[in-house]
Amino acid sequence: MIRLEGITKSFAGKDGPVAALDGVDLSIAKGEIFGIIGSSGAGKSTLVRLINLLERPTGGNVFVAGHRVTDARGKSLRELRRSIGMVFQHFNLLSARTVAGNVAYPLELTGQYGKIEIAEQVAALLARVGLSEHAHKYPRQLSGGQKQRVGIARALACEPQVLLCDEATSALDPQTTGAVLDLLRQINRDLGVTIVLITHEMDVIRRTCDRVAVLDRGRVVEEGRVADVFLHPRHPATLRLVRETEPDGGALDAITASDLGGRTVRLTFTGPSAHKPILGRIARENIVDYSILAGRVGHIRETPYAQFIVSLSGRDVAGAIAGLRASGVHVELQGGALADDVPAAPPRLQERPRYVV
Ligand SMILES: Nc1ncnc2c1ncn2[C@@H]1O[C@H](COP(=O)(O)OP(=O)(O)O)[C@@H](O)[C@H]1O
Ligand SMILES: [Mg+2]
Repeated sequence: MIRLEGITKSFAGKDGPVAALDGVDLSIAKGEIFGIIGSSGAGKSTLVRLINLLERPTGGNVFVAGHRVTDARGKSLRELRRSIGMVFQHFNLLSARTVAGNVAYPLELTGQYGKIEIAEQVAALLARVGLSEHAHKYPRQLSGGQKQRVGIARALACEPQVLLCDEATSALDPQTTGAVLDLLRQINRDLGVTIVLITHEMDVIRRTCDRVAVLDRGRVVEEGRVADVFLHPRHPATLRLVRETEPDGGALDAITASDLGGRTVRLTFTGPSAHKPILGRIARENIVDYSILAGRVGHIRETPYAQFIVSLSGRDVAGAIAGLRASGVHVELQGGALADDVPAAPPRLQERPRYVV
């Protein structure tokens, strides 16, 4: 649906050009919710602005629905822009227009619809975002969450194939954030709209996205399914982001990073295995003791997970690790310990290396 090839973008700075994006390749499939995460200044906003052609790349190509948008001019440019809706952090509503007037605005701009047609479409859009009762209010009379629902309805007005959301929930409290993310997921399900979510908030990605790319200083440094990237972060930039938002302050990742020696493993249980007493059974079968050094449990979208750093000792540690793997537990050896007596983990299936240096 969206393909970026070798995208570079530089801006004129005081001391010559500043590279905001530096060789970005990215493919986003039709109908998926794709997250782009990175710290402030990483280049996220520049990246979305290239997709809807608010900016043009310095080098490389952008394709949307098979069209090379970097070549688009005039009428085809207007049509492409219309096929891409955008939702902003600060809503960008017209304060002198009512809720209905804001949603009608992009339809009026097309010059293609009569008054009655527009009124009908606006009513349907407001019903979709749950604002039918507020049609005649002005933006200043709405809460932040309601304003963002107006922003979403407006972005959907021209029936776009793609919805770009740049920090769409960053100005909202956590509860409102949850409700807006639920709405976006529902829109994705009902309309099949491809959604690109740009955020610096890990939780937004965790509960909403199918896949995620991590942007760091203008480069995609890691990319994959959300569960893979968040439960097994590899690049230092991803680790930093994951740590910031974990309730344990990243203690688990800190242990992972340090070489404790001994037989220390990081175990990840996902899906149904997160709730099964696998560890105890396998420890008994192999006459192994375990102590849990750190752990966390949670959900990525609807999938539960549990992750523990465990130190193993006893008779058959290698057998226990093999048994865990056979039960579907993801086992990573910490600090290079055990290299001699434990078989290597089977390679994970991947389209391409996830950790790009
Ligand atoms: N219009 C611009 N002119 C000059 N520099 C810019 C412009 N837009 C962005 N930048 C620079 O590009 C880098 C990436 O910015 P941005 O895409 O806004 O990052 P993010 O959205 O991840 O915070 C920053 O260093 C920023 O200062
Ligand atoms: Mg930004």
